[in-house]
Amino acid sequence: NSYCIIMAGGIGNRFWPVSNPSCPKQFSDILHLGKSFIRQTYERIHRIFDNDHIFIVTGAEYENITHEQIPELPLKNILKEPLRRNTATCITYAAVKIRNIDPGATMVVIPSDHFITNDEAYLNDLQSGIDFVGQSGGLLTIGIEPSRAETQYGYIQIKNQDKNERISAVKTFTEKPDMDLAIKFYESGEFLWNAGIFIWKVADILEEIKKHIYDLYALFEKIPAFNTPQEQEYINNIYGECPNLSIDVGIMEKSNHVYVLKGQFGWSDVGTWHAFHALCPKDENNNSTNSQKVLFRNSRNCIVNVPYRKKVIVHGAEDLIIAENKNYLMICHIKDEDHIKHFEKQLKYKK
Ligand code: GDD
Ligand code: MG
Repeated sequence: NSYCIIMAGGIGNRFWPVSNPSCPKQFSDILHLGKSFIRQTYERIHRIFDNDHIFIVTGAEYENITHEQIPELPLKNILKEPLRRNTATCITYAAVKIRNIDPGATMVVIPSDHFITNDEAYLNDLQSGIDFVGQSGGLLTIGIEPSRAETQYGYIQIKNQDKNERISAVKTFTEKPDMDLAIKFYESGEFLWNAGIFIWKVADILEEIKKHIYDLYALFEKIPAFNTPQEQEYINNIYGECPNLSIDVGIMEKSNHVYVLKGQFGWSDVGTWHAFHALCPKDENNNSTNSQKVLFRNSRNCIVNVPYRKKVIVHGAEDLIIAENKNYLMICHIKDEDHIKHFEKQLKYKK
């Protein structure tokens, strides 16, 4: 019996201002594919999970938009968080919820905001992962062959370098290394990127959470009664006490039972403007834009994302990200894009 959990409570702030707190990246269609990321994610996994076996965990303020975009999913399968407490808390909540339905269940945990190509290969990989943890236990993550030194991902070092094995034990897991370390990892050829897709039995992940983040485990152990108003009330009361901790740092870096399956599908987390740029069509000077009303002159390597009706001219610019939403206009050098996640906060008190 397996369940799929879609994590959808992030705000995608590295992709600001197009992704922002009122419409985070997962609910938007920045690649112009006709569907939001979360809708695509849902349709993809719905091919192997029926609605009763899919849960979406998101902020309470995103319940409506989630329901609008995925009306098929029963409301009770949207788990509402009163605050953002990162993925360890989100996963603990989902795990105890599923344990209550079936203590022997397996859960597949996926992000809501990734771009995947080759759905068949993706679903096959999930199925292989489900079969593996069903037999062997452990925490399985999906790895992606890295294509550059990148600081925004987790890095997985494989224990036995047998390139032909699809699933290997993991020697080390390092979440978001600094650039020097990322270069070392990349050049060594021994590492995969963590895709942020996890597969495990509920019992196994809860055991690890109990071991490594006991306080978090203890809070969720005491949920009074599932599927009653008391459940939500209890969740609303405890969330403030939960650590703001990712599953990567809280569990994956610490556990001794981690395995990796090398993914065979096309993957991008579209996590930053330059990752987005890599997926977009570009002109002969490597400029990309969402709109035909943008005119580039003497410019190279620029990314321009503006409302459709606006005419824009960019002259003599290089390596700039120019992006706009209703309230904000951002112009940022690509090399400084690590700062973007702080911009909204920094502008908050500007009159
Ligand atoms: N429900 C809920 N609550 N979901 C959350 C929360 C939260 O507080 N915080 C983040 N999420 C969701 C996001 O919406 C996203 O779908 C997923 O969880 C991962 O969160 P990100 O914030 O996007 O993580 P990341 O991109 O920095 O890092 C993770 O993904 C990388 C690959 O894309 C890590 O797992 C890295 O190791 C990995 O390489
Ligand atoms: Mg991400």
